[in-house]
Amino acid sequence: MANVLELVRNELKLLEASKTFKYEVPLEGPQDGIVRVDGRKVIMLASNNYLGLSNHPVIRRAAIKGIREYGYGVASVRFICGTQDIHFDLEKRISKFLGTEDTILFSSCWAANEAFFAALTNEKLGFESYKDVIYSDRLNHASIIDGQRLCKAETTDRKIYAHADVDDLARQLEEDKEKNYRLRIIATDGVFSMEGDLAPLDKLVEVASRYDAILFVDDSHAVGVCGKSGRGTPEAKGVHGRVDVLTGTLGKAIGGAAGGYISGKKELIAYMRQKARPYTFSNSLPASIVYGAAAAFDMLMKSKSYVKKLHKNTAYFRKKIVKLGFKILEGDHPIVPIMLGEAPIAQEMSNALLNAGVYIKGLWYPVVPKGEARLRAQVSAALTKRDINKALDAFEEVGKQMKVIQ
Ligand SMILES: Cc1ncc(COP(=O)(O)O)c(C=O)c1O
Repeated sequence: MANVLELVRNELKLLEASKTFKYEVPLEGPQDGIVRVDGRKVIMLASNNYLGLSNHPVIRRAAIKGIREYGYGVASVRFICGTQDIHFDLEKRISKFLGTEDTILFSSCWAANEAFFAALTNEKLGFESYKDVIYSDRLNHASIIDGQRLCKAETTDRKIYAHADVDDLARQLEEDKEKNYRLRIIATDGVFSMEGDLAPLDKLVEVASRYDAILFVDDSHAVGVCGKSGRGTPEAKGVHGRVDVLTGTLGKAIGGAAGGYISGKKELIAYMRQKARPYTFSNSLPASIVYGAAAAFDMLMKSKSYVKKLHKNTAYFRKKIVKLGFKILEGDHPIVPIMLGEAPIAQEMSNALLNAGVYIKGLWYPVVPKGEARLRAQVSAALTKRDINKALDAFEEVGKQMKVIQ
């Protein structure tokens, strides 16, 4: 034990020295447009609370009703005694919203992504010997990468294609055309969280169909966010209902608590209920979350007003921050990377902004490439125009003090 403590102590020191140690700032109250830090109210520009539902009275009431009607916890996995009728009900609601045949819930999208690849590729499915292949976007989320690491190396080839580069992907598929692969899977985020850009799903749907591949899309940063009605990247790219497999989280726009899902064809989902290990061997979601998420989907299906407000706030923030002279990555997603170059500038600026009343996180190497350090703003429908203007004033003041803008 002494040996391991020595090793981890050294590693912690190294993390501090390389400025990659992750500090946690406690919020003294709920997640919202305005949060409390160190006794002060600050504007939140770092959460995934895109629609402002994480402390919304409708969602809070629904979660409390869930506890009243179905109790606190299920104390079981789904197939033993952890299935309540409300689980099936939420799965139906998600399928309806996404235009898919069926959906399976997980405790998180991390668990869903960890489940998917291994459940398919590690099973013989009637083959004595076989090889599958997965083509993964270079910037895919850690949970997609780790999900693929659970695939057995003997039976799964794992390949990377250049970020959002459909030509590179098509070239690799063409090269492998004569190989006798059993399954070909293309895996991508719908929205990439460091850049705020959307995967070219319209083209990926076409390439997947040309090479008889399964298209897997993790739409965690897009469900409730992208497209006119918040149905995600497929809606934004004009291919709603045409992506083979969608995964997503209930821990961002959809109330922000926890939970994830895989959605797609009914046979595939039925199969996942049998073979997905994080589903089979881990507790099902508690009623408070099931009710909260169901209420969030209901709100989205009844009215586009939340999505509209998010899009309006995003367009306003993007326009104004550029006008102040900051360099951002162009796009229309509420993730707005403000490019600063070197890590110390991003570190200093996020601290200065917190002092000025704005909570925002900086990202630097190794999370993003060297020389591309940035602040990542995340706009929310929870913010009023006045909040956004106050945040912009703080950006102007701090940016000028630090000579990032003139
Ligand atoms: C693209 C993507 N997928 C999956 C996850 C994990 O979601 P969850 O918090 O539900 O595990 C995240 C969270 O950061 C994400 O950004």
